[in-house]
Amino acid sequence: MPVTVVFGMQWGDEGKGRTVDLLAAEADYVVRYSGGANAGHTVVVGDQKYALRLVPSGILYPGKWCFMGGGTAIDPVSLVSEMDDLIARGIDFSHYRVSGSAHVVMPYHKLLEQLDEERLGSRRIGTTARAQGPLYSDRSARWGVRMWDLIDRERLAERVESALQVKNPLFQYAYGHEPLQTEDVVKEVWPAAERLRPYVAQVELTLAQAAKEGKRILMEGAQGAFLDLGYGTYPYVTSSHPVPGGACLGTGIGPRQIDKVIGVAKAYTSRVGAGPFPAEQDNEIGAHIRERGHEYGTVTGRPRRCGWLDLAMVRTAALLNAADVLGIARLDILDDLDPILVCTAYRCDGQEVRYVPSDTRVFARCQPVYQELPGWRTSTQEARHFAELPSAARAYLEVIARETGIPIAVVGVGERREQAIVQPGALA
Ligand code: IMP
Ligand code: MG
Repeated sequence: MPVTVVFGMQWGDEGKGRTVDLLAAEADYVVRYSGGANAGHTVVVGDQKYALRLVPSGILYPGKWCFMGGGTAIDPVSLVSEMDDLIARGIDFSHYRVSGSAHVVMPYHKLLEQLDEERLGSRRIGTTARAQGPLYSDRSARWGVRMWDLIDRERLAERVESALQVKNPLFQYAYGHEPLQTEDVVKEVWPAAERLRPYVAQVELTLAQAAKEGKRILMEGAQGAFLDLGYGTYPYVTSSHPVPGGACLGTGIGPRQIDKVIGVAKAYTSRVGAGPFPAEQDNEIGAHIRERGHEYGTVTGRPRRCGWLDLAMVRTAALLNAADVLGIARLDILDDLDPILVCTAYRCDGQEVRYVPSDTRVFARCQPVYQELPGWRTSTQEARHFAELPSAARAYLEVIARETGIPIAVVGVGERREQAIVQPGALA
């Protein structure tokens, strides 16, 4: 540590939750910096499986401070229900805080997103329907509702009324939907607002102070680099900033406070929602990965599109975000496949391309160039050291490290907490 960012290098669902869980054991603070309930982090501890959405996975260790930064999107109703589920399972929330600067997902954001995806039809983004687009648009337009507004009924009503002055004509005239009433909107969120009041705080000051004192802070990314609003496969992206740069904006901490950046990629690629995906295997290989890896959305249950590992993506994410080390998640999902292909570059318009083009239409024309590697056809799930992996699996990892130029610090070989191989000292 002391301040470490863990981010996804693909299109989300890289298995960041488990790397964060490993590191959280050593952290004093665990902080989410972007996104909202569109994220789903699955962590397995003993025989308990936790699907986390708006609560950092550090909550599973008693006594850690867990914060939602100002860059996150808080759906109060969803957060309260997640908290209640966790509290019922014995999880303690006395160390949980939400930044007062975080923006609040309102019922009209959800409605707007639903109406807009319907409008787009076949050009839809395929969002998780957690209102990220409308929420972050309102934030930028300065019509948003912040946590500070949410917990004061009068202020909340004022903000909602002002927002509805522009939303209602949109609902009526652009989408043919009836207008919403301020009082109905306020009533819908108010019980959750009251529950959340004790948890709202100016967490950025606490964090910056902690960073200054050398406390160990773990910044937990949601989604992945190619879903980043600025540098992902626009417009097939989310509306926040999953990249490590987002950790500064999303927590209020200064860029020089970040000491280490850990990029996490799965041993293959998946994508949920629309948009280009050169290494996609829309065939029995993709189906095998999906079934073996339970590749269905944590939030929406949608089957994920699956394909081979795309190293041009990982290379691009590593370069742009200055990743120090890699975490490779879910190696065991490839245990039965032979051969195993990795995409090391693309062919596009007669040229070899080694980085993801930022012109999404060009990216959509990219054809994968594969390197074929022998499979290992044996379980990696019991391995706890690199030396215990079959040699073909080690060779696979070596290709990843060589092609990206980044050392591998951790490899996931199963969903249980202990099913990981950690390079000694590499995460510190
Ligand atoms: P939104 O974030 O719900 O607006 O969705 C925009 C795009 O990001 C869609 O393709 C979603 O499927 C994708 N997306 C959002 N959150 C996640 C996630 O946590 N994992 C994987 N894909 C996600
Ligand atoms: Mg996920």
